[in-house]
Amino acid sequence: MKFSKASCIGVVGSGAMGSGIAQVAATAGNSVVVFDTNEQALQKAKTNLSTTLAKLVEKQKITQEESNSIFSKIEFVSSQEKFSNCDLIIEAIVENLEIKKSVFSGLEKIVSDTCVLASNTSSLSITSIAAACKLPQRVIGIHFFNPAPLMPLVEIIPGIATGQGLAEECKSLILSWKKTPVICKDTPGFIVNRIARPYYGEAMRIAEEGIADIATIDWAMKTIGGFKMGPFELTDLIGHDVNYIVTETVWKEFYFDQRFKPSLMQKRLLEAGFFGKKSGRGFYNYQEGAELPKPTEDLEKGKYIFNRVICMLINEAYDALYLQVANEEDIDLAMTKGVNYPKGLLVWSKEIGLKNVVATLQDLYDTYLEDRYRPNVLLRKLAK
Ligand SMILES: NC(=O)c1ccc[n+]([C@@H]2O[C@H](COP(=O)([O-])OP(=O)(O)OC[C@H]3O[C@@H](n4cnc5c(N)ncnc54)[C@H](O)[C@@H]3O)[C@@H](O)[C@H]2O)c1
Repeated sequence: MKFSKASCIGVVGSGAMGSGIAQVAATAGNSVVVFDTNEQALQKAKTNLSTTLAKLVEKQKITQEESNSIFSKIEFVSSQEKFSNCDLIIEAIVENLEIKKSVFSGLEKIVSDTCVLASNTSSLSITSIAAACKLPQRVIGIHFFNPAPLMPLVEIIPGIATGQGLAEECKSLILSWKKTPVICKDTPGFIVNRIARPYYGEAMRIAEEGIADIATIDWAMKTIGGFKMGPFELTDLIGHDVNYIVTETVWKEFYFDQRFKPSLMQKRLLEAGFFGKKSGRGFYNYQEGAELPKPTEDLEKGKYIFNRVICMLINEAYDALYLQVANEEDIDLAMTKGVNYPKGLLVWSKEIGLKNVVATLQDLYDTYLEDRYRPNVLLRKLAK
């Protein structure tokens, strides 16, 4: 085993993700060194951690002793030299390829040759980050979901130069951190951020066409589909600055495949600075006194909306399976543990019936004559 409780974990970047990852590792008993170039961010992370731990004690999720032990295991530092004893470093800085590459090659000058270097990137190619390193075989993606202490899923992404067996070693470590690891190919959006695209994109398309308003679409996906949040509430929560950019990145990275085409409706929100809940306005208006629109609870229409969105999601899940992005089990685990879907999409497809799914997609394809609706080849084969 490459990693154990005695392994020292380094974290670069003390923002939302870096501090969450540090908490997860320290809770599992590993010692952690967190580095940030911004002194204020480092202080903020330390204060936030102590507040979070105090709340956990108050809610009796952990004892005071456990809280003290977790806090004492994390060292917040403003010099990278402290990384020299680390066995694994997880980078969680700004999502910019050039900056990540320079941080990775800088780390190699400090760490030992056996230290594994991982990136928490949501959308960049692990292979291209690794290409900046002298030892690209030690580079891998370890992608947590936000908030890291609460979300069980972790995607593990070997790049094409990653050493054999490293993904399995990382999987064991992540399991020891009581998380749910899945292994996936280094492709745009990995599993979750690829397969989930139609949840937002198809919902927006339905709204753009005027088939239903946003409140009705959210209602349909929650009450008929059993999703915890509707697509418009959810993108308002994620923030359109984040959600739109992920969609646009996945679309560009797939050579402008129409299936991933972003929505102008969402782009306008972004341009207006209506980022969602955090800015007081997104698809919905969150300002004081503003009234939230009510859905039209039309069951027939609701079923049409749900069926159209779920079939597009299922199509994406089969595409990922067909192109060997991950295996069947991991694809379903990823969607239930990473974005809280009520069921895995592959299991769901069997409940709906593969023939029904193909029929819905084929009907959309024939209606719109758009490549976006092409049913996946594996799905069609299995439906036969
Ligand atoms: N926020 C999410 O929902 C989410 C989910 C999964 C993955 N990610 C990915 O995780 C990474 C971090 O995202 P975040 O939301 O935590 O960002 P953030 O803005 O909250 O934090 C980034 C931190 O990195 C620091 N930083 C920037 N450049 C640095 C450098 N060269 N060296 C050291 N520190 C540096 C910043 O000071 C900041 O504190 C990104 O790659 C993002 O795509 C984010």
